[in-house]
Amino acid sequence: MDGNGRWATQRGLPRLLGHKEGVEALVRAVRAFTNKGVQTLTVYAFSTENWSRPEPEVSGLMSLVPTAMKAHLEQLARQGVRLRAVGDLSALSPKVRQAFARMEEYTAGNRRVTLNVAFNYGGRWDVVQACRRAMADGVDPQALDERTLSRYTALADTPDPDLLIRTGGECRLSNFLLWQLAYAEMFFTERLWPEFDDEDVNQALAFYASRERRFGSLPGHHPPAAGLAAHG
Ligand code: FPP
Repeated sequence: MDGNGRWATQRGLPRLLGHKEGVEALVRAVRAFTNKGVQTLTVYAFSTENWSRPEPEVSGLMSLVPTAMKAHLEQLARQGVRLRAVGDLSALSPKVRQAFARMEEYTAGNRRVTLNVAFNYGGRWDVVQACRRAMADGVDPQALDERTLSRYTALADTPDPDLLIRTGGECRLSNFLLWQLAYAEMFFTERLWPEFDDEDVNQALAFYASRERRFGSLPGHHPPAAGLAAHG
């Protein structure tokens, strides 16, 4: 969800107001994607690298979590959204952890769409924590294969993403879902996240629909064991 800071700066506002507007854009986007039948969304809300931002911005982003929950949790729950936090939550303050715990508990029974909020998340962190947990479980190194390691990743029970959307004009992954994005289609847009609207949702989905997914095979040949068939 890139471009919050620029959106605010362009208007002479503090960057944090851009992040606040980013929350509004997220709520709108969840509704729009849900209406289009998307069943799983994962958003990058705070990366393991974001700790290096100025302290007021970091603490502002942290306090946005309980604030956003107060403002939107009930409405999201009514829409059938199940919310989950993914990342190294152990490093967060009790207040933020509690807000995420309540968010998960409150929406656990919802099934229409799952919104994973990646927070203190990094793709490399995820691979390392998955390896650590597999080793702690006593998995035999010879028996460790992709399927087994996947089960230890933070999104183990979630289908791999079919589509990555990055706003704000950057064309890189920035340590997001490195393992899970292996076959994702990638949509990059100049749009700043707070301005992301229904038209952008339509554009992203039209882009996705225009792609021929091959999962490493030849044009026109779709291996049955990969991709949408296997990943839902
Ligand atoms: C990147 O834009 C955005 C972030 C680091 C934060 C994204 C967070 C939210 C939208 C809030 C989500 C919060 C909850 C509780 C789910 P940037 O600051 O790098 O923008 P810039 O590239 O214009 O500087």
